[in-house]
Amino acid sequence: MSLTAAGSSAPVAAVLCGLAGWVPSRVVTNEDLARRLDTDDAWIRTRTGIRQRYVVEPGQATSDLAVEAGRRALASALASSGTDRVDAVVVATTTADHTCPATAPAVAARLGLAGVAAFDVNAVCTGFVYGLASAAGLIAAGVADRVLLIGADTYSTIVDPLDRANAIIFGDGAGAVVLRAGHPDEPGAVGHFDLGSDGAHEDLIMVAAGGSRQRSLPGAPSRQDRHFAMRGKEVYRHAVTRMAESARATLSRAGWKIDDVDHFVPHQANLRILHSVADDLGLPRERCVTHVESVGNTGAASIPLALADAAAGRTIGPGDRLLLTAFGGGLTWGSCLLTWPAFPEFPAFPAPARPAAQPTQPAQPARP
Ligand code: COA
Repeated sequence: MSLTAAGSSAPVAAVLCGLAGWVPSRVVTNEDLARRLDTDDAWIRTRTGIRQRYVVEPGQATSDLAVEAGRRALASALASSGTDRVDAVVVATTTADHTCPATAPAVAARLGLAGVAAFDVNAVCTGFVYGLASAAGLIAAGVADRVLLIGADTYSTIVDPLDRANAIIFGDGAGAVVLRAGHPDEPGAVGHFDLGSDGAHEDLIMVAAGGSRQRSLPGAPSRQDRHFAMRGKEVYRHAVTRMAESARATLSRAGWKIDDVDHFVPHQANLRILHSVADDLGLPRERCVTHVESVGNTGAASIPLALADAAAGRTIGPGDRLLLTAFGGGLTWGSCLLTWPAFPEFPAFPAPARPAAQPTQPAQPARP
């Protein structure tokens, strides 16, 4: 997709110039979970590939992680582009600090950016790709020259800690990028895009209570309705199909072949899904960037966290061609292409892990 800035005939693209990831310091291993749930390390690893995840401390919220990632992404942008100025802050999240207002204005204010445009995007685990498209649109429309996009989620605040099917999958974290106006042909340019949804399957991934539907009904919501619910097997099937279709649609729009992709960076749902999608696309698994083993599924944070991890490990190099693909509740899905820029220096990732105290994940009240 080549966008043209409003009032100009020159093609314009959003260009990546800053990147960072952040996770909370409390690590929860599979063994930690097995001490309080009827599960074990072998089951979790075989079904999901996950070894450990990070979770927030009681009292920490999504914005706390978003601010940490955002601050580091702005520093990264300063190092690579000579300025940390941004005109807009977009936060992709399913676990906003509050039902109202959005989390982005508070994050912007805490980053010293009060006054800029700030809003949330909720496309569940596809949120970061939807956020990239939103940021690219702001830049193409001439609304902003530079955008800070943060994917941040704290699933530990909505997953029932006693629900073994979901507690094993999700972790908390935040990843952030800075995008600036540039040319579609320069390294760092984001696009082409493919975005889609199918709300007929909204019940496959849902927190039933807390919104206007439940609030308009009499009576208190049940414990189950206040927590995250997922029909895992069906989600698995939809995820593989939709991610592969979306990846193909994006490659076709750009005129790329699968062999043109140096790194496939999927939403880190679980390892089996990622490998199934790579196999479906005919892409060697070595080209599939995976980070889910050490952080779990971190929702809207997962793609920028995987990028930050790969960038810190120098497994992605300048000029490499990336295909990003995500899938999430809604249902939603989306993909986009990205040519990797040259980052002058890259901050180490993630935060040093601190083993969890026992019990590992105290029951936290679900958000209303
Ligand atoms: N430990 C041990 N056993 C568990 C368990 C756990 N943590 N969670 C579920 N089980 C049990 C079930 O109760 C069931 O037992 P039963 O056969 O006696 O009824 C058995 O394991 C199989 O459960 P099932 O749900 O069929 O397992 P599965 O093979 O489908 O794996 C998921 C479950 C969640 C790992 C899998 O469905 C999945 O990966 N889904 C996609 C989830 C995802 O990535 N979502 C994010 C998309 S953005």
